Amino acid sequence: MLKTDKSKEIIRKAELVTPGGVNSPVRAFQSVGGTPRIIKKGEGAYITDVDDNSYIDFSSSWGPLILGHADKDVVKAVQDQCEDGMTYGTSTEHELNLAQFIVDNVEPVEKIRFVSSGTEAVMSAIRLARGFTGRDLILKFDGCYHGHSDHLLVAAGSGLATFGTPSSAGVPESITSQTAVLPLDDEEALETFFAEHGDKLAAVIIEGIPANNGLLIQRHDYIRLIRALSEKHGALLIFDEVITGFRLGFGGAAAYYGITPDLLTYGKIIGGGMPVGAFGGRADIMDMLSPLGPVYQAGTLSGNPLAIVAGYTTLKKLEDGTIYKKLEENNRRFVTDITEQLRDCKVNIAGVASIFWLVFQPELPRSASAINNAGITHYNRIHEKVLNRGIYFPPSGYEVCFISAAHPENMLSNAANTLAGIIRQEAHSWH
Ligand SMILES: Cc1ncc(COP(=O)(O)O)c(C=O)c1O
Repeated sequence: MLKTDKSKEIIRKAELVTPGGVNSPVRAFQSVGGTPRIIKKGEGAYITDVDDNSYIDFSSSWGPLILGHADKDVVKAVQDQCEDGMTYGTSTEHELNLAQFIVDNVEPVEKIRFVSSGTEAVMSAIRLARGFTGRDLILKFDGCYHGHSDHLLVAAGSGLATFGTPSSAGVPESITSQTAVLPLDDEEALETFFAEHGDKLAAVIIEGIPANNGLLIQRHDYIRLIRALSEKHGALLIFDEVITGFRLGFGGAAAYYGITPDLLTYGKIIGGGMPVGAFGGRADIMDMLSPLGPVYQAGTLSGNPLAIVAGYTTLKKLEDGTIYKKLEENNRRFVTDITEQLRDCKVNIAGVASIFWLVFQPELPRSASAINNAGITHYNRIHEKVLNRGIYFPPSGYEVCFISAAHPENMLSNAANTLAGIIRQEAHSWH
């Protein structure tokens, strides 16, 4: 067992001044148990906690760190910008550079606006879609997470389409009554919904590749049907690319499926590890935003230069495609390696680009209801053991893992062996 005295002590004190001791709930390790690690340093593929334990980090700060921790070019860009001031509350040339870079490289993005988080990006895109269409209703999918704004914290029922039950206290039903929820991977439910409500729908929002409730890779035909039906009924299609944007190459999930959404939302990688979000898409829609149009949206730190230079430096390093190619090869090898080692344990691993997710069931699920919850319990049981072998996995079995450019091939194959060994041992107690 690794020593965790200092982490424990800090958490104990933090609990006295911060709810649950954390600033975002899953960090509290409630589902996996054990001691949340208090991190003091990140370097390349590693994070080190206050007790001086180092871990290979597969959480990558939930996705932004595609280059690994403290990439020297990103750090330098941020340091240089710091010297010149951290924020001015007015425009900088850096914002133009990043906006131009994204518009030049992402076909569906004709105009873009920067905000400070993924939640804010999605919230603004929804308001814009409503303002543009003059309709209120939005459609989301069970198993997709779009941040914590009120109208998207909606519980899915067991029926084909459910409306408006808040999934969090403090969210009024009057707000979520305008949000419908459908199961993923179900064409019939989609057709029925559009036939009944399509003409009232402002927007459909979907995570390009749902990656917040497991990794639920969708069928191309299904996503194309969503595109076709939304177009037919005059509803906008919003692709939430907060995770997939610049993770699945520059075209993100939209290019993966070969479709053109009307609006796209971003976060994570485009800020290079700094707080950022963005939404963009068709120019005629984006021009509805203030100051040009009637849809209000603003932010004190929107487009702040530290985040923008960190993001721009990150994207420039990804531009020639070499890193993406290597990441994809490494991830594919890692996924195949574990799948083969664990074939007889009925454990699977879903992978796309540089994302993977351990699935404790023989079939890869494509919808939230197809996830075997017993498998999540298995994940929870191995989490501490994996940590004790120096591998940091996200503290929830529903969360995906990310590899970065700082995870070399031999590190991955060693990690695969360690992981497979732990799971193999545990698997005896499952049957
Ligand atoms: C797909 C997706 N959308 C939106 C968000 C919200 O982003 P943030 O946590 O930056 O507010 C997340 C966060 O993980 C996300 O994964």
